[in-house]
Amino acid sequence: MDRLSTILSESLETLKTLLTMHDLDQCRAKYIGKSGLITALMQELKNLPIDEKKEFGAKVNQIKAQFEQAWFNQKELILAKELENKLNNESIDVTLSGRNSALGSLHPISITLSKMLNIFSGLGFDIADGPEIETDYYNFKALNIPDHHPARAMQDTFYTETSNVLRTHTSPIQIRYAQKHKPPIKVIAPGRVYRVDMDATHSPMFHQLEGLWIDKGINFANLKGVIIHFLRLFFANDDLQVRFRASFFPFTEPSAEVDILSKNGKWLEILGCGMVHPNVLRNMGIDSEEYSGFAFGMGIDRFAMLKYNINDLRLMFENDLDFLRQFQGMSGALL
Ligand code: DAH
Repeated sequence: MDRLSTILSESLETLKTLLTMHDLDQCRAKYIGKSGLITALMQELKNLPIDEKKEFGAKVNQIKAQFEQAWFNQKELILAKELENKLNNESIDVTLSGRNSALGSLHPISITLSKMLNIFSGLGFDIADGPEIETDYYNFKALNIPDHHPARAMQDTFYTETSNVLRTHTSPIQIRYAQKHKPPIKVIAPGRVYRVDMDATHSPMFHQLEGLWIDKGINFANLKGVIIHFLRLFFANDDLQVRFRASFFPFTEPSAEVDILSKNGKWLEILGCGMVHPNVLRNMGIDSEEYSGFAFGMGIDRFAMLKYNINDLRLMFENDLDFLRQFQGMSGALL
């Protein structure tokens, strides 16, 4: 009986010092597990004389129950402590200020394009789109550039395995749009174009904006008026000096290149244009006796470089945050 009391008080003392569920489980095994100390006492019962069995058995059961109760209490204590620790460690301070998430900005090419769209929308132009993988017909032949024509050498073309091309200019959209719409036609078409070229002012992928206006009686004066109006609005300079210089494109006749006078007195070539060639009108399904029109094409990236004094085209495609952050807050609004 003395041994029983010693084991009990010893086990209760130990329980009180335990701080983790792991230790608690080990203690449980030590006393009431399969080969535990209290369990072993039960097995001693059979060696006792009949008259002592009853008292001893009752005492062992009582000790076991006391141990279990104490074990359970200690478990509650540990779990409560663990919860308290967790709550303390994971608490949220709602008075802390939030983390700033960085605001993006429009890419300079997007800003430039939306300024262009704003101006031409204001003049009543529709906006059209076309495929970037083009057939030879739409990219060249329909634009009066036949096979082996020297004009093909003007543009180093990417060909696909199926003899289609990555469009070298946005001009094929002229044909596609005009085949689907009857005059009057007044449309601009922005998009990506591709050429085998790469240096500070050329990229294998760049952006163009194409324009086309076809109606009865459209003439070169209308072309000049639209282009000059556009350039002065875009560069926000009412006095911008604009020069039309005779040039050649297979799809226009006559053709011109347009220059603007820069602040340091140099003429900068900025776009190509002309009166739509009768062969091109025919490919559009338009009677060139009844209708005439003009077309123009410009590089959006080049306009962005001039407007924002960017000296290397490659900057546009490198996603350098220091470069892009300079356009923070800018939009396509015309101010
Ligand atoms: N397609 C020409 C190019 O890529 C640009 C161009 C010039 C377009 C004259 C036109 C035009 O519509 O009339 O260089």
